[in-house]
Amino acid sequence: MKTDPAPAAPADPLRGRRILVGISGSIAAVKLPLVVSALAKRGAQVRCVLTPSAAQLVSPVALASLSRERCYLDADQWSHTAARPLHVELAEWAELVLLAPLSATSLGRWVYGLGDTLLAATLLATEAPVLAAAAMNTAMWSSPGVHGNWERLQGFAGVLPLGPAEGLLACDRQGSGRMAEPALLLLALESLACWGWQRDWHGRRLLVTAGPTREWLDPARCISNPSTGRMGVLLAQAARLRGAAVQLVHGPLQVEPAWLEGVESHPIETGAELQQTLQRLQPQVDAIAMAAAVADHRPARPLAHKSDKAGCAEAMAAGWEAVPDLLIELVQHRLPHQAILGFAAHSGEVLPQARAKLARKGCDLLLANPIDQPGAGFGSALNQGWLLGPGCAEERLEPMAKLAMGHLLLDRLGGLLATRCPA
Ligand code: CTP
Repeated sequence: MKTDPAPAAPADPLRGRRILVGISGSIAAVKLPLVVSALAKRGAQVRCVLTPSAAQLVSPVALASLSRERCYLDADQWSHTAARPLHVELAEWAELVLLAPLSATSLGRWVYGLGDTLLAATLLATEAPVLAAAAMNTAMWSSPGVHGNWERLQGFAGVLPLGPAEGLLACDRQGSGRMAEPALLLLALESLACWGWQRDWHGRRLLVTAGPTREWLDPARCISNPSTGRMGVLLAQAARLRGAAVQLVHGPLQVEPAWLEGVESHPIETGAELQQTLQRLQPQVDAIAMAAAVADHRPARPLAHKSDKAGCAEAMAAGWEAVPDLLIELVQHRLPHQAILGFAAHSGEVLPQARAKLARKGCDLLLANPIDQPGAGFGSALNQGWLLGPGCAEERLEPMAKLAMGHLLLDRLGGLLATRCPA
């Protein structure tokens, strides 16, 4: 039998990009060699610039080796053999800048326009988008001066600021100050590379559901599905990077934990828990993306204690009841300005089933994706399908990374919101 060839995977958006990595003096600098190595392995061209404090914390020799390029220090800035100032050369060479970790001192220099180190001068001279990940001691982070400087940075066009996460710090403080994890830095760079710098979701509130639900027969057995939550989580993170306040309600996930940083997370397990959480959160948001793979049935008589095989068979024979359709409930309780995106997983002929599902569920947009094709489906890095929308519009979406798909869906949802509550 002749089968269709698998579609070519879309190119990595970081491949061939010129990325300048600026490292300043925070102990989180020790994580940067891993980031630089990952970028180089993905085919990016990487150059590193270190402040004098950073050069005490992380080896410029290691960074040069991992980036396959020389590493730049303050001592390199002025040379009678260079035709142009180094900070201008580097600033114009960069297509993207990763500034991580961003220390209190480097933040202060930047927002006050001071260029007294190679890195500080390069930041002032660059017109490339900058991903800036702060890291410092908890008390420093909450001091009024740093807080004020961080607030000022929010208004800088082209800058994507990633505030620090909570955790145990190297100074033994427990609190806010940890640099965003390397996995999130890579994702945010990929987002800048494939969709550019956008803050169009700033001021909007988005609710996303992701992952599977589980319905328990007894404490050891459940019915569920293979959803990993990747599509919903990446949509949520893309919205956060575009400035949205994001609530993420999710079942058990199989994704990088760092991809959840910066979104408000509500873990759930069963359809009933998901239903309660949606009822509580729906009135607080402008848009909803229902990417969760909700298990359709639950045991009519679940057992409180683990049964033996015979007891399990008896419990299954007692029958199953339908889990309420939560997307339909969301549509029934929709506020006038709210936009709702549903998902539809299908095998075989996708479009006819998707048209019927859109009519039945009544959401504004429906992404129908095949789960039996290469380049889509549970756990795949890619997604594809049809986006069905208002006025029976049907848009074919070729295979693309789930992060890019998340951005595309945000464009369409954002467009709908703009028509409902124009600025
Ligand atoms: N959904 C829901 N509540 C359910 C089942 C599904 O809210 N009990 C939502 C999903 O989150 C998704 C959409 O409905 O946004 C479609 O889910 P899908 O699994 O494709 O369809 P079902 O409604 O389960 O219908 P069927 O399995 O019969 O195709």
